[in-house]
Amino acid sequence: SKKGFIFDLDGVIVDTAKYHFLAWRKLAKSLDIDFSETQNEQLKGVSRVKSLEKILSWGNKSISEDKFMELMAKKNDDYLSFIDKMDTQEILPDIPKVLNFIKDKKQGIALGSASKNARTILKKVKLKKSFETIVDGNDVSKAKPDPEVFLIAAKQLNIAPEHCIVFEDSVAGVKAANTANMISIGIGEISILGEADYVFKDFTQISEEFLTELITN
Ligand code: G6P
Ligand code: MG
Repeated sequence: SKKGFIFDLDGVIVDTAKYHFLAWRKLAKSLDIDFSETQNEQLKGVSRVKSLEKILSWGNKSISEDKFMELMAKKNDDYLSFIDKMDTQEILPDIPKVLNFIKDKKQGIALGSASKNARTILKKVKLKKSFETIVDGNDVSKAKPDPEVFLIAAKQLNIAPEHCIVFEDSVAGVKAANTANMISIGIGEISILGEADYVFKDFTQISEEFLTELITN
C-alpha cells in the first residue's frame, strides 16, 4: 500500500539547525549561561518554549513570565534575521532528488516540524509545493518527543502511522516517530541517533534501492 514520507524541516531539509544554535547561544550568553554542543543536541526538534525552559534550567535561572516572552521574541527575531537571507542554496544535498523520486512513485509526502517558521522557510527555499501537507509548530499542542505532529501528518495524508516513514535529525524527533509506530530514519550521527531504525549521515547516503524497499515492504 501507499507509504507516507514525513520530513522534519530544520536539519533535514535545510541547514537551519545552525541558525537556531547561534540564536540560542547568543541569548544564553546574554543571561550568562553557557551551553555545549552536546546540550544543543537536546534542543534540536524541541519547541521554542521548551528550549528556553531547558536553557534556563541549565543556568539555574528563573525569570518572570514577561521576561520569558520577551526572550522568546528576541530569539526569534535573531533567528529570522538569518532566515531572511536564505535561498535555495541552503537546501541540504540530494533533498530535491529524494523528494522527486518519492513523488514519481506516487507516495505521500508531508512536513512534520516543531517550528512556527516552517512555512516561511519553505517559501524561502521554494519547496512549499513539494509537500502535500504541512504540519508545524502552529498546528500542535504537544511538542516532540510527543508523536502528535507526525500523527496529524499521517492523518492528513490519509495513511496509517505504521505505513509512514519519518526523516529526523533530532533525538526528540526520532523518539516521536518511534512512539508513533512509524519507521524512523535518523539523519546525522549514529552515536546521537542510535534509537532510530536506520541512520544515514545525509541524504547522499540514501540510495534509490533503499527508498524502493521502504515503498514496497
Ligand atoms: C525545530 C528546531 C528547534 C526549534 C523548533 C521551534 O524543531 O529543531 O531547534 O526550537 O523547531 O522552532 P521555531 O522556529 O518555532 O522557534
Ligand atoms: Mg530537526
